Amino acid sequence: MIPTIEWDGDQVRMVDQRKLPSEIEWYICRGYRDVIKAIEKMVIRGAPAIGVAAAMGLALGARSIRTKKTAAFKVRFKEIGEEMLHARPTAVNLRWAVERMIGLVEEMPGHPADEIKTSLRQESEKILAEDIEINRKMGMNGQGLIPEGATILTHCNAGSLATGGYGTALGVIRAAHERGKKIQVIADETRPWLQGLRLTAFELMEDGIPVSVIADNAAGSLMRQKRIDLVITGADRIAANGDVANKIGTYQVAVLAKTNKIPFYVAAPLSTIDPTIKTGEMIPVEQRGPEEISRFGKLELGPPGVQALNPAFDITPAKYVSAIITEKGVIKSPFRTGIRDLLRSS
Ligand code: MRU
Repeated sequence: MIPTIEWDGDQVRMVDQRKLPSEIEWYICRGYRDVIKAIEKMVIRGAPAIGVAAAMGLALGARSIRTKKTAAFKVRFKEIGEEMLHARPTAVNLRWAVERMIGLVEEMPGHPADEIKTSLRQESEKILAEDIEINRKMGMNGQGLIPEGATILTHCNAGSLATGGYGTALGVIRAAHERGKKIQVIADETRPWLQGLRLTAFELMEDGIPVSVIADNAAGSLMRQKRIDLVITGADRIAANGDVANKIGTYQVAVLAKTNKIPFYVAAPLSTIDPTIKTGEMIPVEQRGPEEISRFGKLELGPPGVQALNPAFDITPAKYVSAIITEKGVIKSPFRTGIRDLLRSS
């Protein structure tokens, strides 16, 4: 699989996900503002990948700070972190990564700025490596929930490209496949960015995992015909009570799954859980531009001036979630205590 993001000498490069799978093009970030732009414009997307990008972006930002004085360095570094936080509001992994990088600077009082800059770059590399490791553990923990021969529905792309590598929801699917289970995947195309068609199908086909893409509105009918055994998605933020923010359309899939008595699983690292948010109602949902709905690429499809609503995420209440798969174990209802206990023990 192509690396999602990596250091390339003194710059950060990421595969431009807007162009996949037809073109494999590298997007080069020389400074932290290039990273902010890449996150805003969907060059890189997916909650854990956004976290890794933010960490690397902050390491780039640190390099641009000229002062040698530690106190002044800290002030400017925090300002850069604040700017980074606004790139995309829903995925909490972004804030998690920014706080971890600022925390590192706090732990190095009195160290020369150059030393701090080196440590920040190393920390961003560590965050990338840890993310892949976490996804493999999540895969191991979740694969037991997938029966032999299962047909699995997934929404959006929660794969290698949405993370440092291996994936969350697709990591669980990969782990089941690696253990020899004969499974197949149905991928929602995921309007308007088509992450399911362009990215999930691409990743699974590369791995030789059978996959069929469906229009988003076909999922309910397939469930009613008993052609789907379970659903697995990723998450952008999970509230303390287990409510899940994920790609727009996830909520309707979860409701349909419950109505059709199909398990609905969410795979996410602990960095996606936001214990400061009590319920999903408090999670900020990003609203993107109407042109993403009314146009197809550069082609205007709607009547000129048509209005469109474009919430990028929705909230699935915990009552629709059968289990949350993490790197530390699988949490089942009641989620509030399960999440609290898991976070305390880690
Ligand atoms: O808008 P996107 O493509 O960043 O949305 C991505 C999703 O909703 C994913 O399901 C989520 O980030 C989990 S990725 C492991």
